[in-house]
Amino acid sequence: MSTNDTVNYANIPVHIGFIMDGNGRWAKARNLLRTQGHNAGVEALEKIVRHCRDIGVRCVTFYVFSTENWLRPKAEVDHLMNLFSSYMDKIIKEINSGKMKTFKDSSIRFIGDMSAFSDDFQEKLKYIEEKTAENGNEFIVNLAVNYGGRAEIIHAVNEFINANPNKLITETDISEKLYTGGLPDPDLIIRTAGESRLSNFLLWQASYSEIYITPVCWPDFTPDELAKAIIDYNKRTRKFGGLVE
Ligand code: FPP
Repeated sequence: MSTNDTVNYANIPVHIGFIMDGNGRWAKARNLLRTQGHNAGVEALEKIVRHCRDIGVRCVTFYVFSTENWLRPKAEVDHLMNLFSSYMDKIIKEINSGKMKTFKDSSIRFIGDMSAFSDDFQEKLKYIEEKTAENGNEFIVNLAVNYGGRAEIIHAVNEFINANPNKLITETDISEKLYTGGLPDPDLIIRTAGESRLSNFLLWQASYSEIYITPVCWPDFTPDELAKAIIDYNKRTRKFGGLVE
């Protein structure tokens, strides 16, 4: 990228997925606890949500907690769950006071298997979804929690088979039954902290996503870093398996 490159606002990705990796490494480099890295990760998420809405992205999906993250040490799993839970309480307070900040004008959705959570907590998540749905579909924020791409595909197939026992399933059927049913596939998936893998994130939806990997750890992923990713995306030729003249 040359220093003169700027974002082409006429070619902004409609949907961006974020694999927010590197909270632990960010903390370690600063002699902080891993949990402090996750706390800093929430602040980075907030800045990116606001910026995406400001520049006209229509949908963002954040990989908050995977089906495999339960394998982490209990203290870290507990911290991530407490962080998520207290953050949801903060959002509910904002909704009830009529003063949404980061998620102003956003429709928040949770993607993943929510049955792992208590009934009370599931009710809170449903409340957030229902109340923020009143903001319309201009800007959708998906939070992937207890999410796994393979589990999502299995869930979609089973939903379809249960409803249509004697029919052959099609690609459209699967897309519609995914947690992201009705949303466009991500145009761009950004992974921070340098690893080159999808780690079970949006496996079906990522078929033709452009992938951008940056060495920057998630807590340091600022709107300027996002601009670099979009400038890179602007230069990609998207062929979707076909030919482009
Ligand atoms: C990966 O970093 C990050 C996670 C497993 C959690 C991501 C969660 C957040 C950024 C917090 C978002 C939370 C809310 C409440 C919306 P890592 O721990 O694997 O980092 P490392 O690979 O450097 O160890």
